[in-house]
Amino acid sequence: MKIPIPKFAFTREIKEALRASVKGELTWDVPMKTRTTIRVGGPADCVFAPADAEDVSVFVQLAKKMRIPWDIFGAGSNLIVKDGGFRGVLLDLAPHFDGVEKVDDTHIKAGAGAPLPTVVVRAKEWAMDGAEKVCGIPGQVGGAVAMNAGTAEGDTSELIASITVVDKNGKIKTIDREDVPFEYRSLGMDKDTVVVEATFVFKPGDAKAIAKKIETSKTKRKESQPLDIPNAGCAFKNVRDPKSGRTRFSAGKVIDELGLKGVRVRGAQISEVHANFIVNVGEATARDVLTLVALVRDKVKDAHGVVLESEWRVIGEDAPDEKSSPLAPLEKKEE
Ligand code: EPU
Repeated sequence: MKIPIPKFAFTREIKEALRASVKGELTWDVPMKTRTTIRVGGPADCVFAPADAEDVSVFVQLAKKMRIPWDIFGAGSNLIVKDGGFRGVLLDLAPHFDGVEKVDDTHIKAGAGAPLPTVVVRAKEWAMDGAEKVCGIPGQVGGAVAMNAGTAEGDTSELIASITVVDKNGKIKTIDREDVPFEYRSLGMDKDTVVVEATFVFKPGDAKAIAKKIETSKTKRKESQPLDIPNAGCAFKNVRDPKSGRTRFSAGKVIDELGLKGVRVRGAQISEVHANFIVNVGEATARDVLTLVALVRDKVKDAHGVVLESEWRVIGEDAPDEKSSPLAPLEKKEE
């Protein structure tokens, strides 16, 4: 018989230990709907904004000792928090890890909580070439490194010189690019690794030419993606050839070809603009979004025998009544 693992709950003792140990701010009962770009998700018990890398280290060690579940939410741009919310602590690096500084003519050092678009803008201003590869990615530096976010032009890993992380035991380490086992959409390191800083490397370039490249990238994205409606970026990874790294199977194209654009589950809809985006067109819940994800996955599997992998991180728990209440039937796509 399987023995159920008791659900984590904050006791007064744990709260006090947390308050006494860390320097950064602790905020309780935070609705994640307000912190994710697709605007779904229940409350997190606690959001912690560490003051510096030492503070992250102290926290990681305490969480291990007291068995406090934790995660990081970054910009909340590639993240689905389920409707029952998150029991434990979510780390918010935006307030105290937001620095972006020029190291020399080709290097930029950025805190994990700095928006990646800020790095792109600074690279342009400082005439550093190559940032167009990550132009249009809405996340923070830490998130972009942790998931090796990318575009058709390239991945974050191609622009990294080194990263600083706090490992699962609380050790702060700076690692050179060649020692980071980056994979497609993954850092390739232990899941409890917190990226706290990254040094980017660019090529020396001409400011005007760089500005033009970035502008072209932005225009292309504005035309081909539903950027004005709440979304969480591409829902699925493309299928890549492991050797060449080339896209073998474009998720957006295949979902489009199956005629799924516009299909809705209540407030969640497969975008009419780009089929690999799910948009929140009303009061969507995480459940609506995830039901749509499952539906797309089934259709693609039936048609092509390929199981698409999601790009998103899904955290938290279902709302209490979700297991018993059946979902309403899918709404038909309007012709
Ligand atoms: N396509 C369709 N129908 C659609 C969408 C796309 O036919 O509804 C076709 C396009 O015409 C094109 C191909 O599919 O021939 C690929 O589409 P696109 O150029 O939009 O690129 P993508 O592979 O779908 C990738 C990244 C995006 C990034 C864009 C632009 C992944 C999974 N997605 O999209 O990243 O913005 O390139 O560079 O790698 C994200 O990761 O969240 C994301 C949005």
